[in-house]
Amino acid sequence: MTGSKSCKKVISMRDTLVETVYHVLPMHSNPYGTLHGGMALNWILTNATMSAMRASRRPTVVARLDHTFFINPVKVGQNATLYSWTDYVGRSSLEATVVMESEDLASGKRRLTTLSYVVLVSVDDNLRPLPLNICIRPKNDLERRLYEQALLRRERREKEIANRREMVNEIEAPPSLDEDYHIVSYRYAYPEDAVFHNAFFAGKLMYYMDELAGILGTRYSKGAVVTASVDATNFYAPIKIGDAIEMHASLSYVGRSSMEVTIKVVARDEIKGIKRHTTTSYFTLVAVNELGRPRKVPPFEPKNDIQRELFQKALRRKRIRESMLKTLKDLEKSFDVIKELHKF
Ligand SMILES: CC(C)(COP(=O)(O)OP(=O)(O)OC[C@H]1O[C@@H](n2cnc3c(N)ncnc32)[C@H](O)[C@@H]1OP(=O)(O)O)[C@@H](O)C(=O)NCCC(=O)NCCS
Repeated sequence: MTGSKSCKKVISMRDTLVETVYHVLPMHSNPYGTLHGGMALNWILTNATMSAMRASRRPTVVARLDHTFFINPVKVGQNATLYSWTDYVGRSSLEATVVMESEDLASGKRRLTTLSYVVLVSVDDNLRPLPLNICIRPKNDLERRLYEQALLRRERREKEIANRREMVNEIEAPPSLDEDYHIVSYRYAYPEDAVFHNAFFAGKLMYYMDELAGILGTRYSKGAVVTASVDATNFYAPIKIGDAIEMHASLSYVGRSSMEVTIKVVARDEIKGIKRHTTTSYFTLVAVNELGRPRKVPPFEPKNDIQRELFQKALRRKRIRESMLKTLKDLEKSFDVIKELHKF
């Protein structure tokens, strides 16, 4: 269970459990009155970081957020509760599972909002990986099942992240369907943005990424949009405090009511003249009417080779999402996080 590394400390998943309740206020919402997708992503990564630090007792940075689907909204006035735990510890990396659900305080009804997996890496003062010598030892059937599933996810990710060091140099702007639907935004990384060692916190970055995706989706659809999902997001290089953050949003697909926006982030050390690709991710936005129901967006017919290629690639991603979403919705029918947590 614990692999061949040395285990100075053995912990159980339960030791790393973090539960956070937020009462969703207008300051947490999108213009449509439900929890802002970027705020939700920030909360997910904050909870994951707390669980990982309960396990590691060391600073950690976010290396990856797996595909994340928002299957139910949280309205202003409802509670959003996040539960997270560390279910795997590797050499220097850890995986945290985060479950988020809404609670309607009037009826007591709870609904699953999202289930995410986050990989974090323990780092030294120079933000380089630091081995952990900690092992998770599952202590009951539930923990054993979760541990085995986490091991499978780790194996599946290996291929996807094999080129992660080369990705740091991929700094060119992402292609867009139309130059009117490509936005570039810059901001500074300030000391208030770092949790440890001058490294910009990934949760805050995802807030900004989601915000920019929302601006572009609103521009194209000419109305309110909500974030339906974010594809797997790898963080290849840190953003250091003092860096300029270059963020691109490009429209990469238009469906009936949904749009895919590619967000690419490049960290720029303007003093040394160094640019590093931090991350690229695909946000799926759905245009909604005043009742929060999907509405049609202006159709987009690809006319040239670049547009056709972008559509084809996006459709492949859409199909992958559809099968993952089906699995999550099937799970939602029988899933009761509080009952599950009692088994820890
Ligand atoms: C995370 C980071 C330190 C890893 O660096 P690296 O050169 O890949 O280091 P290593 O090859 O030693 O990998 C370290 C561990 O991280 C894991 N890892 C690295 N990138 C990963 C990714 N994208 N997804 C999943 N796991 C990843 C490796 O599998 C390895 O796991 P193990 O130690 O348990 O075997 C580096 O990618 C980085 O600095 N990323 C930015 C982190 C950050 O600042 N996030 C916030 C951005 S705003």
